Amino acid sequence: MEAVNCSCQQRFTPVDDLRPLEEIVEKYRGDRSALISIFHELHEAYGYLDEGIMEELAKRAGYQLSQLYGLATFYTQFRLEPVGEHLIKICHGTACHVRNAQGLIDEAQRTLGISPGQTSPDRKFTLETVNCVGTCALAPVVVVDGKYHGRMTPSKMQKLLKQYMEKGGTGGDED
Ligand code: FES
Repeated sequence: MEAVNCSCQQRFTPVDDLRPLEEIVEKYRGDRSALISIFHELHEAYGYLDEGIMEELAKRAGYQLSQLYGLATFYTQFRLEPVGEHLIKICHGTACHVRNAQGLIDEAQRTLGISPGQTSPDRKFTLETVNCVGTCALAPVVVVDGKYHGRMTPSKMQKLLKQYMEKGGTGGDED
């Protein structure tokens, strides 16, 4: 199958391990209505859908690259780049929202220099906002690398992030 041309002429970062992608393409071969399912399974397998993955999918399953981009950027649940070394999720569900989750987001943006959905240029931090993480009694809640930090304040947030920035460490015990 011919490579799909992209108007930007960029060469994409190659996918390290193509086996999950090949298996998913085979599973849905011939099913033109399965693109969202393919995206979900690729996202599950790789943790993100970047240009390299989409280029391989376009080549192997016969999609237009522009079609894949359009879909991946429309659905906000798909991450379009690999996460950083530390994944910071700030809960923005109702209970956290009313307890100043926005203040935590503002502080994280200030301290890390990135916005929600972005990864720092050194690939150390990825910042995300998420819906209820299920621990509303501890609102507002921040989850760093799977570790829950409850009853956060902007100043605690800054301290926590600085621990990760300075030591690359575990972020202390703010739970
Ligand atoms: S709304 Fe944040 S933990 Fe439920």
